[in-house]
Amino acid sequence: MGNGVRAVARKQLPLRPAGPDTVAALLDWYDRERRDLPWRGKRGRRIDAYRVWLSEIMLQQTTVKAVIPYYERFLERWPSVAQLAAADLDDVLAAWAGLGYYSRARNLHKCAQAVLADYGGQFPRSEAALLKLPGIGPYTAAAIAAIAFGEPATPVDGNIERVVSRLFAFKGPLPSAKREIKRLAASLTPQRRAGDFAQAMMDLGATICSPKKPSCLMCPLQQDCHAHALGIETQLPVKLVRADRPVRYGIAFLALREDGQVLLRKRPEAGLLGGMLEVPSTDWGDDWLPVDQALTAQPVKADWWPVPGVVSHTFTHFRLELMVLRAIVPVNASLTFWSSPERCRWVARRDLGSAALPSVMAKVIAHALKEQ
Ligand code: ADE
Repeated sequence: MGNGVRAVARKQLPLRPAGPDTVAALLDWYDRERRDLPWRGKRGRRIDAYRVWLSEIMLQQTTVKAVIPYYERFLERWPSVAQLAAADLDDVLAAWAGLGYYSRARNLHKCAQAVLADYGGQFPRSEAALLKLPGIGPYTAAAIAAIAFGEPATPVDGNIERVVSRLFAFKGPLPSAKREIKRLAASLTPQRRAGDFAQAMMDLGATICSPKKPSCLMCPLQQDCHAHALGIETQLPVKLVRADRPVRYGIAFLALREDGQVLLRKRPEAGLLGGMLEVPSTDWGDDWLPVDQALTAQPVKADWWPVPGVVSHTFTHFRLELMVLRAIVPVNASLTFWSSPERCRWVARRDLGSAALPSVMAKVIAHALKEQ
């Protein structure tokens, strides 16, 4: 088998190929187990396209849990697309703060104005028309068409890519195989309930068909999953390793206050992960700094202890390797002036899940706190 994927057959092939029965089993599961999220309508009821659009744009940034409070605040303040279109751009940007990438918020505002000016305040229902609106790419156009209007469109995000590649034991490497995965997903998209189908795939990917340890025993599609039958589910989807991707190195400082709060810092608005929260760190350079130099970047003066292991994260243009130092500091610890204290804040551990953290920083925190 190609791509270094080794098969350990779990059951006799041929399996029945994924088809309408698979979709029916998935929709039954969704009816029983779907996550109750504020942008989802009551069972069997469609939801306003404005809400679908708003949630989908926000969900491109961060996790479901972090999006919920932003989504609710936006809706309370601007309950309709017309009200958002009439809002002051600065107010929209301020309400977006913490979600990252202000260009998304600018496009959100522009899109609301376009929907008002060109469509009288009603989002168009076709994927093609949605795609022409500011800030709406192929994924979002398909998600709105399917979820808000029941059009048989097929949004494909990372979760759906994983579910589909496993279901079909499809070994084409990402990112070049995206088209083929979309075709396979589209081959399953039902004429009725396309929006539920898409969201069921997302929920399955988020809760059961996880990247590293899928819960196949709980999976409603276990019987239909070719990757599971071959024992290769955790090896899919195959991702092409870009040999030319450079590596950058940094040292992150996880300061844990005695009252259980963790120090986070808002990144500068421009550039990578602009405006999002981070664990303070040294600059990311060509190599790890020696400890004495790294300590010149400590955000609080403390006794720092290395956390064994390294956190690796792949961005589009480089891979980042972060070593993590951890310290417990008193509640009255003062921040060093070179850590940009005006951008720092203490966040309670229980609130970390709902902070808009980019996934690399969620990894750093999980790594640093795993034995706590
Ligand atoms: N991620 C992106 N869109 C989503 C949705 N509608 N439901 C759950 N997770 C999502």
